[in-house]
Amino acid sequence: MDSKQWMELSEKVVAYTYGRFPILLVRGKGTRVWDMDGKEYLDFLAGLAVCNLGHCHPKVVKAIQDQAEKLIHVSNFYYIENQIQLASLLCQHSFAGKVFFCNSGAEANEGAIKLARKYAKEKMEGDRFEIITMERSFHGRTLATLTATAQEKYHKGYAPLVPGLKYVPFNDTDAVRKAIDSKTCAVMIEPIQGEGGVNIASAGYLKALRETCNEKGILLIFDEVQVGMGRTGRLFAYEHYGIEPDLLTLAKSLAGGVPIGALLMKKEVGEAFKPGDHASTFGGNPLATAAGVAALTALLEEGMLENCQKIGNYFLNKLEVLQRNFSFIQEVRGKGLILGMELKREGATIVKEMMDKGFLINCTMGNVLRFLPPLIVTKEEVDQLIGALEEVFKKL
Ligand SMILES: Cc1ncc(COP(=O)(O)O)c(C=O)c1O
Repeated sequence: MDSKQWMELSEKVVAYTYGRFPILLVRGKGTRVWDMDGKEYLDFLAGLAVCNLGHCHPKVVKAIQDQAEKLIHVSNFYYIENQIQLASLLCQHSFAGKVFFCNSGAEANEGAIKLARKYAKEKMEGDRFEIITMERSFHGRTLATLTATAQEKYHKGYAPLVPGLKYVPFNDTDAVRKAIDSKTCAVMIEPIQGEGGVNIASAGYLKALRETCNEKGILLIFDEVQVGMGRTGRLFAYEHYGIEPDLLTLAKSLAGGVPIGALLMKKEVGEAFKPGDHASTFGGNPLATAAGVAALTALLEEGMLENCQKIGNYFLNKLEVLQRNFSFIQEVRGKGLILGMELKREGATIVKEMMDKGFLINCTMGNVLRFLPPLIVTKEEVDQLIGALEEVFKKL
């Protein structure tokens, strides 16, 4: 079958939950992917912040191959060596004392919501179960994480939603302070909102949130599903802010492309989970955590964080130059290699034209071009992308 026939079959048999571009990708290496018709693309989307190490990183491939021959899956009734190793590495490099593994970002956030409520029942006075989240946030598509996602467009058709979630504007400390009451058990936030349009929390804001949560005796949860694992130039985004959350969620790039999710917890908060309180059949299985250990080790050992900072700054400067030359660019912003360009017009046609030119980029919120290349991207590749963007912009 050729690519067109595969796409036609997809329309018939695959659930219609995604609006797809008409390309079928079959191979990837580093910053590049190829479609079934042999066309090459420079990938500035990286599977939506999943392939931070680039496609098919050799150490991840080798770890998967070796593990697949030994043991793919066993139940969490038993101890799992790679799971223990990955949890140890995550604890060693973060604030966390314990880790729960699952399979996706939504599942990690679902775990965070459950743990916050469980901890509140055990350790907080009164009946605290409410969680405050931020407007334009994105936390996932399960019913609880969908409700935590404070964007109405994702709620449509799914009422009744989960009770106990409350929304306030992003980057507004007073709004959070006003929203906290005798029912509140936690505040949940992405340090940089990805789907919401690459919105960066100010340093003062996150510090104030930490202080407020301490003062009120409630938990602070960071969703780093998109911005964790080096995306901002530090292993975790919270490291830029000089504070620590109580709970932090990860997924996407944690295992170099193999599905995984993780809930990192301060030891004493994590202790609210007892055997039987929470579980996931595949969570932290031998294959996924073998890939996770290889991916995290490569991320730390191969200079990717440094490259992310260096190329991120270079890239942001280049986007600022474009902004000076094209009046329809409202703002450019970002940290490391999560960069956004807010337009005064919609961005879908630009994404399509860039794809035709061999560049994968994304547009979120209708008018924010988002760039999420692998952290190994080079200056030359950024120059190529900027050149192509300039050509597309000139024709608008
Ligand atoms: C910040 C954030 N949280 C949670 C999710 C949901 O992750 P998943 O699609 O793996 O469930 C996403 C996905 O884009 C995300 O960006």
